Amino acid sequence: MGAKKVVAGEQISDAMRSVKDLNDKGLVCTVDHLGEFVDSKEAHCLDTLKEIHISGVDLNMSLKLTSLGLDIDEEFCLENMREIVGKARMYNNFVRIDMEEYVRNQKTIDIYRKLVEEFPGHVGLVLQASLYKTGKDVEILDEVSANLRLCKGAYKESQEVSFSEKFDVDKNFLNNIKKHMINGNYAAVATHDEKSIEEIKGFVEREEIVRDKFEFQMLYGIRKELQEKLVEEGFKVRVYIPYDEDWWGYFMRRLAERPDNVGFVVKSMFKR
Ligand code: FDA
Repeated sequence: MGAKKVVAGEQISDAMRSVKDLNDKGLVCTVDHLGEFVDSKEAHCLDTLKEIHISGVDLNMSLKLTSLGLDIDEEFCLENMREIVGKARMYNNFVRIDMEEYVRNQKTIDIYRKLVEEFPGHVGLVLQASLYKTGKDVEILDEVSANLRLCKGAYKESQEVSFSEKFDVDKNFLNNIKKHMINGNYAAVATHDEKSIEEIKGFVEREEIVRDKFEFQMLYGIRKELQEKLVEEGFKVRVYIPYDEDWWGYFMRRLAERPDNVGFVVKSMFKR
């Protein structure tokens, strides 16, 4: 075993302690190892899935396809993902594919479609309400019972492909979530926006959508009280924990400097 794997193991062990604390409070988690090290990423993901299995925490994994070779070769990326999602299935766990910039959107969806047919129940995708195409993508992916995380979108895209007004993004966000749930599919509602959360709470009650068909997701350290309040109300809440090579100290210091700063966390996740 190379030194990197050992170090990675130690790092994920650090994360595990926080995950355990969150689990004790009734929150579940997902980890995202940041950084684009295509050569060592797959091994890192496999080690992490094993570590999660051994420690028994309620934790799954989020990842970005660029870190697994999407820009190099799509077939290579798909093969890497098959290994990882296959391992997740072996441990009865789950891998969520984050969505990156528009130029990678369709390629990411295409790879997801292949994976979900092979590993149903063990792989999910993210779609962004900022893009015009997302409404149609939800419909297409609902045909394969996709498990979707719906978010508003972290990237600045051109007006040719995305809404420029926040009002339209928020509206599209809610519409997509509702459509996806009405179609009977699992939704991860990723937002810190209390207004959107209240709207979804009202919707699931009216439509009698059972609570194991959706979850709320928020970033680590952001709106902690809201996260805990939702858990008290009986909703499932998943906390997204990004981390880097020497992540824990770094991440915690930055978070302490700028508490409850969604911009910081989004930046560390996507806009490096
Ligand atoms: P938004 O920016 O719409 O803010 C609306 C309102 O929310 C604010 O006016 C305020 O009331 C409240 N609010 C927000 N942050 C707050 C804070 N810190 N304190 C107090 N109030 C606050 N993006 C992407 O492109 N691809 C992806 O794969 C993902 N994945 C992802 C996973 C998870 C778990 C989350 C939570 C988010 C993502 N995102 C993402 C990022 C997402 O697209 C979006 O950029 C951010 O979540 C910001 O949008 P919101 O809906 O949270 O709040």
